[in-house]
Amino acid sequence: MENKLGVSTLTQEVKTIVKSIDEPGAIQEATAILRRGGLVAFPTETVYGLGGDALQSDASMKIYAAKGRPSDNPLIVHIGRSEDVYKLAEVVPEKAKMMMEAFWPGPLTMIFKKKSFIPDETTGQLPTVAIRYPSHPGTIKLMRDSGIYIAGPSANTSGHPSPTTAEHVYHDLNGKIDMILDGGPVGIGIESTIVDFTGDIPTICRPGFITKKMMEEVIGPVIIDPALIEPDPSLHPKAPGMKYTHYAPQGKLSIVENKENPALVTDAVVDKINELVAEHKAKGETTAIMTTSNMANRYHADHIILLGEQASGDTVAAHLYAALRECDDTGAQYIYSESFNRDDLGGAIMNRLLKAAGHRVVQV
Ligand code: TXA
Ligand code: MG
Repeated sequence: MENKLGVSTLTQEVKTIVKSIDEPGAIQEATAILRRGGLVAFPTETVYGLGGDALQSDASMKIYAAKGRPSDNPLIVHIGRSEDVYKLAEVVPEKAKMMMEAFWPGPLTMIFKKKSFIPDETTGQLPTVAIRYPSHPGTIKLMRDSGIYIAGPSANTSGHPSPTTAEHVYHDLNGKIDMILDGGPVGIGIESTIVDFTGDIPTICRPGFITKKMMEEVIGPVIIDPALIEPDPSLHPKAPGMKYTHYAPQGKLSIVENKENPALVTDAVVDKINELVAEHKAKGETTAIMTTSNMANRYHADHIILLGEQASGDTVAAHLYAALRECDDTGAQYIYSESFNRDDLGGAIMNRLLKAAGHRVVQV
């Protein structure tokens, strides 16, 4: 069913089975569900995906309905071996092959001209297809044993943070999908880097764990989609999903940062956050602070939510989405977060954090 905004809605509840992906028989059961056009959430190294058979247009329609996602926002097609890219993509440029060698299986999605048999429903009517070979062994086994290419966006309700545990998936999609394969908490915690290979110069459409620098060491110059740098509404992002508001908690989130060096949580930043929190308290408003563990004891808010360690971007990425979900659990009306450097992985983290904050930044 589609309403006027092109957002699909779901009409019927289904029973959602949850099984460990390592439980004997779980992969066979998931295969049977995917074959008949059903939906199975699956673990990857980045975030959990909401899977359907990429070659069944009805399955893709069901994915949009379960997520409440606009159907012009294309899905990523997951494959269980590198060679499968040649079955799905019309043209695979030499540089993309070098990227496959260097980073697959892994947190990298590449966009190619698609073969015409891939349903338009899967690719949001685009002539291109986004392909990723994820590195989770259970999910690779599922794709290899079944021979199915899995269309899979992140397994969250549209607008919520991507799920990094099977519990997050259950929270958002229980009753809307047939099965959740539980593979424990994910390793990376933010979605894959997306690179478009259909133009002259490879273009990053979504920053992620594989950074521009890492790619340039392999294939030379790479550019970043200008729409990602300037929050200018007249620029249309290459990845349609990047235009949507994302991850925003129910409370009003702002980022507080040092003007000269956003990567440093200085005394002035700490003081500013405590001052803002005190103002809210005086008005009877509730607050939460998202902080790295080494700074946590310096704040006085109703809720302190930990984001990993400032010195280690990996730990921040791994905790970010759970922290945003935790903000909602606390019910805090105002949330303040520390800021991170904008290079490399920090850039991918800040891309998500800025979106969650609606680009509200307090500079000190
Ligand atoms: O790490 C990930 O990539 C996770 C896991 C499950 O693999 N998946 C994921 O999917 O984050 P999703 O649907 O939440 O985000 C996919 C993004 C969207 O922004 C979408 O617009 C873009 O990829 N995309 C997909 N196909 C595209 C295409 N043909 N051209 C441009 N952008 C595309
Ligand atoms: Mg998503």
